[in-house]
Amino acid sequence: MTLILGIETSCDETAAAVVGDGFEIRSNQVASQVDLHARYGGIFPEIASRAHIEQIYPIIQGAMDEAGVGFSGLDAIAVTRGPGLAGSLLVGVNAAKGLALGTGLPLVGINHLEAHLYSVWLTPGEPIRFPVVALIVSGGHTELIVMTGHGAYRRLGGTMDDAAGEAFDKVGRLLGLPYPGGPAIQKAAEGGDPAAFDFPRSWLGEGYDFSFSGLKTAVLRVVRELQPSGETAPANLPVADLAASFQAAVADVLITKTLRAADALGATEVLIVGGVSANRALREGMAARAPCPVRVPPLALCTDNAAMIAAAGHVRFLAGHRDDLAMDVLPTWPLA
Ligand code: KG4
Ligand code: ZN
Repeated sequence: MTLILGIETSCDETAAAVVGDGFEIRSNQVASQVDLHARYGGIFPEIASRAHIEQIYPIIQGAMDEAGVGFSGLDAIAVTRGPGLAGSLLVGVNAAKGLALGTGLPLVGINHLEAHLYSVWLTPGEPIRFPVVALIVSGGHTELIVMTGHGAYRRLGGTMDDAAGEAFDKVGRLLGLPYPGGPAIQKAAEGGDPAAFDFPRSWLGEGYDFSFSGLKTAVLRVVRELQPSGETAPANLPVADLAASFQAAVADVLITKTLRAADALGATEVLIVGGVSANRALREGMAARAPCPVRVPPLALCTDNAAMIAAAGHVRFLAGHRDDLAMDVLPTWPLA
């Protein structure tokens, strides 16, 4: 069995995991910084990198202990190289380099978006047959990709402004909900009517690009109309209806464009990955409307984790990919 240590510090989770043969999770530890950033309503980069420095070695040690493996039992160290916050990425990359230097283990730099795709390989099930159309939706990214084989990607489109998760986070703040907005909006929407507000869908023609800023502005306009004083956390806002209607508008555009791409490209399956793939309206809506199977990661592997870094690392390691100690972070590294 090939055992890979994965390390992830691209954003606001410090994570380490040990994965066997690319799918068997031996350990998966995540230290979230959500509480540190909540009071700013978003990620504060300097605080993120400091917290990574405090957490990185205990998390790596914790993942090794939980897996019951020593460094001599590993085959490689995989670490997120980008995209992400430079100061955050540096902490994981430097920790991985130090370990590689000290142990002699091979070092494999991983693209965070590719790792999100490999989060669906971490569950047992029917083998995935290519081509697949994959929707990557997170706090930092909204990308529609066609994957024709391992490591073979073509970008179909992406967001022109806010990422889907960012839209959830910003609208969450408008509605006075806690950070991060995604899970909070999903919860608030449970008792709401998704047809209560007819929020705009930004289709941008027949292409595969997305835009969420107009939708965010539409929600802001309604909030201002109902709450002219502009106070946050207003008592008289129909938060459940607003949350449900916003969520429905985001899901509608994501689902429609993904399925249009899947049809045009003859995809055998649709994958949804990234933090927003935890969203029930998106998962259930996609499954209900898709003519082909829809694969999503288990909830715990939707948001940032290191098991997916190790899973992508396994594929890259077997393909002979190696990085040296001069490896630098790539904060804007595109997938394709
Ligand atoms: O993948 P992720 O952990 O980090 C990035 O790589 O960006 O994604 C975090 C994003 C946040 O914007 C959060 O609000 C969103 O995922 N999110 C959700 C849900 N859970 C997390 N959005 C909608 N519904 C959810 N249930
Ligand atoms: Zn992510």
